[in-house]
Amino acid sequence: MRHGLPSIINCDNFVTPATFGHYHFPGSGCVIRKPDFLYLYHPKTGFTMKLFQFVASAVALCAAFSVQARSLDEIKKGGKIIVATEGQFAPFNYFKGTTLTGFEVEVAELAAKKMGLKIEWKTIGFDALLTGLKQDRWDLVIASHGVTEERAKAVTFTAPHYCSGGMVIAMDPAIRSAKDLTGKTVAVQTGTSYLENVQKITTIKEMKNFPTDVDARSALTSRRVDAWVTDRFVAKEVVAKNPKAGLKLGEMVFIERIASAVAKGNQPLADAWSKALAETMADGSYAAVSKKYFDEDVRCN
Ligand code: ARG
Repeated sequence: MRHGLPSIINCDNFVTPATFGHYHFPGSGCVIRKPDFLYLYHPKTGFTMKLFQFVASAVALCAAFSVQARSLDEIKKGGKIIVATEGQFAPFNYFKGTTLTGFEVEVAELAAKKMGLKIEWKTIGFDALLTGLKQDRWDLVIASHGVTEERAKAVTFTAPHYCSGGMVIAMDPAIRSAKDLTGKTVAVQTGTSYLENVQKITTIKEMKNFPTDVDARSALTSRRVDAWVTDRFVAKEVVAKNPKAGLKLGEMVFIERIASAVAKGNQPLADAWSKALAETMADGSYAAVSKKYFDEDVRCN
């Protein structure tokens, strides 16, 4: 909206250079009182905008920047916590038909119950999970994330719910260790600690990234790659469930502690979750779920 020079100029209220919504004001502007309305006037460009528009833009701008993680109190008041996972990482989080299940799903249900909360589950691609915390799309993520320094810069981790690590899995029984990956093509899921650690093995021929771990596995079974690096328990289950597929378990390449994550700095929520998790570990309910999935207790010692 462009207007000619306004008749009444009241430059008492200066606006300093700024971007408001879509509008960028490179220099100072002022508020103009016209008989019909208040306008914001930018003398350099002659740009004039009705003030309510300006206010609406400024409000939208504030909303975009003031996104806050829900506090523990807010979550408790509502009685439900929004938890996000991937749903493609059996036996930790996966779909059995249309039902989301898995070790992490069950452990999360136990912990939430201890907190007196119901879970509203969201499932989404692995690479969107931690970013979604920042955008306040969910309160907590449980998707087998290893606690790494890099991730800890962006999110706050809870206490770990299991300990594991990356393992080599191949069709060729001679490919077992990191050393055996020399000159080989290796499949890993994008955004994972497997990728990070395989990258460190400089002698490999090529690393191929896949959006899901299931895709990385298919690359191996269809022999498009020589090896696949994934979680030790994922690997064990795949081998046990597909005895005729010719998959061979190799060695662990690295170990990691796996924990849930909340928005960076939401320590009260992280602490409450860790406390609830500790209670499931103390009362035998965690052990029962762990036994059911792995026939052993997978908690960190
Ligand atoms: N533990 C690995 C990591 O920390 C892989 C996690 C993969 N999780 C998943 N839901 N696909 O990155």
